[in-house]
Amino acid sequence: MTISERVKNINPSQTLTITAQALKMKREGKKVISFAAGEPNFDTPENIKKEAISAINQGFTRYTASSGIIELKEAVVEKLKKDNKVEYKPSEIIISNGAKQCLFNAILTLCNPGDEVLLPIPCWVSYTEQIKFAQAVPIFINTRQEEVFKLSAAQVEEKITSRTKLLILNSPNNPTGAVYEEEELKKITQLLLKYNIYCICDEIYEKLVYDNAKHLSIASLSDEIKEKIITINGVSKSYAMTGWRIGYAAGPEEVVSGMSKIQDHSTSNPNSIAQK
Ligand SMILES: Cc1ncc(COP(=O)(O)O)c(C=O)c1O
Repeated sequence: MTISERVKNINPSQTLTITAQALKMKREGKKVISFAAGEPNFDTPENIKKEAISAINQGFTRYTASSGIIELKEAVVEKLKKDNKVEYKPSEIIISNGAKQCLFNAILTLCNPGDEVLLPIPCWVSYTEQIKFAQAVPIFINTRQEEVFKLSAAQVEEKITSRTKLLILNSPNNPTGAVYEEEELKKITQLLLKYNIYCICDEIYEKLVYDNAKHLSIASLSDEIKEKIITINGVSKSYAMTGWRIGYAAGPEEVVSGMSKIQDHSTSNPNSIAQK
């Protein structure tokens, strides 16, 4: 067998497998409601489509800077300041082919083989496989329905060892819908600082909150904690742009430049037209 151990160890994406199955069944004329991939139930807004068409007409169809165009990085800086109350410089931002690639770059940048990554479950399917790809070890932490699927600081502390490198927090959460509140996040940040652990915060569903839930970015809690956080977000869910493949990450410059190196040698820039 010629396939590497690294790849043998990884499972295919169940979400993408079920999505493909649902499409096949639809083509066969079957009535299907797919709960697989998180596709918004509205279309990409017209002004966004017009900008993309104009980018094509203006010939903006070549390679761009690998980590994204400066105008988009500046727009992300503005967005994070306005919506999330966190201040970053453009050099602390990377634009990738979806939040998925940002996550992949970040996990690979931070983890050495054997490092432990704390992962609250149930969780989105790709985290586990990306951790395994980095030859790190996912350490699952069960969240319970009685606690509205939220992780407590005590549960986190219980799982910390000398190998713990990273916590992955997804709020608002896919699939549970859990949204962490300020006090809960503060308790978790105290542990991150105490044990010197990084945290990847996947905020891709930040605009899809319901009832009285309010999304809060963990990086906004203090300048000290910001140094330990890699915030991941993107346009897929908020703007119904899943096919455009634009995600972004914000974090300490050293981490972001590590992520850029991986991107330089794997995909290069995300889609030029979609960056406009
Ligand atoms: C929790 C979570 N993070 C990240 C992603 C990836 O999003 P993108 O389309 O930006 O790669 C998804 C997609 O379903 C998701 O559910």
